[in-house]
Amino acid sequence: MDKLIAPSILAADFGNLQRDIEMVNNSDADWFHIDVMDGHFVPNISYGMPVIQAIKKHAKKPLDVHLMIEKPERYIEEFAKIGADIITVHYESTVHLHRTLTQIEATGCKAGVVLNLTTPISVLEDILPKCYMVLLMSINPGFGGQKFEDITYNRVKKLRKMINDQGLSTRIEIDGGVSNKNIKALVEAGADTFVAGSYIFRSSNQIETIRDLKELANS
Ligand code: DX5
Ligand code: ZN
Repeated sequence: MDKLIAPSILAADFGNLQRDIEMVNNSDADWFHIDVMDGHFVPNISYGMPVIQAIKKHAKKPLDVHLMIEKPERYIEEFAKIGADIITVHYESTVHLHRTLTQIEATGCKAGVVLNLTTPISVLEDILPKCYMVLLMSINPGFGGQKFEDITYNRVKKLRKMINDQGLSTRIEIDGGVSNKNIKALVEAGADTFVAGSYIFRSSNQIETIRDLKELANS
């Protein structure tokens, strides 16, 4: 499976958002990763609809929208309308997960489930066939620039086995602390889609950093 890189816009310079979006457009990156935080599900507030609309206006690649909000089912249609291509919801944030994924599919977006750092992989067993992608958090969500947690490797292995056992081709996305130090080992464990925020945006040559990550992942 092709390995994908999704720069996290949370780490962009919001005073120069268009410039940073063009950088991603002109890079080897595959998706824009869009983090939505509500100050309830996670202890931080990021950005909402007007900013996402502004991103969509310039983005030439799909928007991978990661909802860190309570009861995401309240906003699915709206996120689809303003240009989401993939919508992922946290297992821990919505009571009727199957209904919420169906709702996402009905908008024409691809649907995915996110697990917090220590939510057991086993909870995915019955919902997996409905997931285009599973996002495994490799940090506690809410902030960029945190340290990657090594327990992620084992979790990726478990999930890859579950996907193979069910004969599926679900993507495994990793979010939090991804860099050139762990991306290769994550691919070896079975992951194929990588969010990276601070590692990309804090580097001096962002285009090159994205190219290196992509090459490492595909090597
Ligand atoms: C955190 C977000 C991440 C964040 C990753 O809750 O989900 O997408 O932007 O940032 P880095 O790559 O800096 O850990
Ligand atoms: Zn994210």
